[in-house]
Amino acid sequence: MNLVVIGTQWGDEGKGKIVDLLSEFSDYVIRYQGGHNAGHTIVIGEHTIVLHLIPTGLLQANKKGVIGNGVVIDPKALLEEINTLQQQGISVEGRLFISASAHLIMPYHQKLDLESEKVKGHKKIGTTGRGIGPAYADKMSRTGIRVCDLFDASFFREKLQTNLEEINTILAQIYHAAPFDLEVIHKEYLGYAEKIKPYVTDTALLLNQAIDAGQDLLFEGAQGTHLDVDHGTYPYVTSSNSGAGGASTGTGVGPTRFDEVLGVTKAYTTRVGSGPFPSELTGDTGDLLRKKGNEFGATTGRPRRCGWFDAIQVRHTVRINHMNALALTKLDVLDGFPEISICVGYKVDGKVLSEMPCSLKKLEQATPVLKHFPGWDTSTNGLTDYESLPENAKKYIEAISELVGCRIDMISTSSKRGETIVRRMPFSGE
Ligand code: IMO
Ligand code: MG
Repeated sequence: MNLVVIGTQWGDEGKGKIVDLLSEFSDYVIRYQGGHNAGHTIVIGEHTIVLHLIPTGLLQANKKGVIGNGVVIDPKALLEEINTLQQQGISVEGRLFISASAHLIMPYHQKLDLESEKVKGHKKIGTTGRGIGPAYADKMSRTGIRVCDLFDASFFREKLQTNLEEINTILAQIYHAAPFDLEVIHKEYLGYAEKIKPYVTDTALLLNQAIDAGQDLLFEGAQGTHLDVDHGTYPYVTSSNSGAGGASTGTGVGPTRFDEVLGVTKAYTTRVGSGPFPSELTGDTGDLLRKKGNEFGATTGRPRRCGWFDAIQVRHTVRINHMNALALTKLDVLDGFPEISICVGYKVDGKVLSEMPCSLKKLEQATPVLKHFPGWDTSTNGLTDYESLPENAKKYIEAISELVGCRIDMISTSSKRGETIVRRMPFSGE
C-alpha cells in the first residue's frame, strides 16, 4: 500500500511523530518536496531527534529512506545530518537513496534568500533562511544544478560559472553584497559529491520497482498544505507543492499508484513566519497555547504564532488533497482550557465567508466566526484508548471531523511514539 502523509495547516502539525509511528508498517519512507526548512521532531524514549532532510522512517531499523527528485538538497546540511545520526548509533548506509535529479541548494541561494528578506522589510515572508525559494526559482528558470551534475566536474564548473556571472552581478548591484568565488564553490561541492555518491541513484526506478514487488511506501510531506505554493496563502508560502499532488511529481510515482492520503492536523493552529492567520490569538490564550504546546520552531527556534483550530482552512485541505483520514495531534495541550473554540467562518467587509478567499487582502482582513465548546479538566496526556477520553474532548473531536468533512483515524495525546489513539491503522488494509 502507498500512503501519503501531509500537513493540513501551516506546518508543524506533528507529522514527524505520525510518520515515525507509521513507518513501522512501511518498507520505504520518501521525502518528495521541500528541503532542510522542515523540522520533524521525534521523541524515542529519553531521546528527542529533529530531522530536517532525512526521511523520518530511517529512525526505524531496516527501513529504507528516499530523498526524491522534488526535494532541494543542501549537501552540507545533509552530510551533517547523516553524521549526527551516526553519532547516535543510527547508520543510514545502504538505506538512504538520493535522487540523481534532485536540485541542489548552493551557497548563493541562501545568501539571496537572506538578502531578499532583508530588503522586503516588514513585508518579508519570514523564511527559514535556508535558500529554499531561490533554489526552486533556479529550478523553474532552468538554471538549477542537479545532484547528477556534480559527477561531471567540468560540466558542473561550466554551469556554476554561468550562474555566478549573473548572481554575482545581482549581489553586487542590488544587494551590495560580496561575490561568490567559482573555484571555492566548485571544490567544496566536488568534495560533497564524493561523500554523497554512494547514496545517489535513479529513485523513480527504485520506487516503481518496489511497488511492483508489493512493498509498502510512505510518502512524507514536509510543511503543510497552506504553505503549498499553489494552494497556500500565497505569497506567504514555501516554494514547493507540499500537498499530496507533490508526492507524484516529486518522486516519479504516477498518481494512480497512490492508495491513501492521511492529513496530520493539530488540535489548534500554529504558524511560523509572516502571513494571514484569521484565527490567531495574540493575547494570553495564545501565550498559553505556545507555552503548553512548546510552540517554538524546530528549525529556527522562532516562537510560533498560535490560534484556534480553523475548520475553514482544514476543510479546504481535505478537499484539494482528497484526504481519506486525519491524524489529530496535540489534543492534550488543550487539557484544562475552560472553553475551546473553532473558527467556522471568516468575517470580511461585514459578510461571512465559508471558504478561504484567494485574495490576500481579504484573508488579512478576515476576523474569525467562532463556535465555542466546553473544555475538559481531566488529563488526556498519554491516553491510548478513545473511550477513556473525557466526553467534552470526544465532542470536540467529533465536531472537527464533521466540520472539515473527514474521518479522524488517529489521535495523538503526547509526543511519545506509543501514546496515540489508533482507531484505524492506515496500513491495516481495512
Ligand atoms: P515542517 O515540515 C512550519 C515556513 C517559513 C516561512 C515560509 C517560507 O516542520 O512542518 P521557506 O524557508 O520554506 O522559504 O519559508 O514557510 N516554513 C515552515 N513552517 N513548518 C515547516 O516545516 C516550514 N517550512 C517552511 O516559516 O513562513
Ligand atoms: Mg517544523
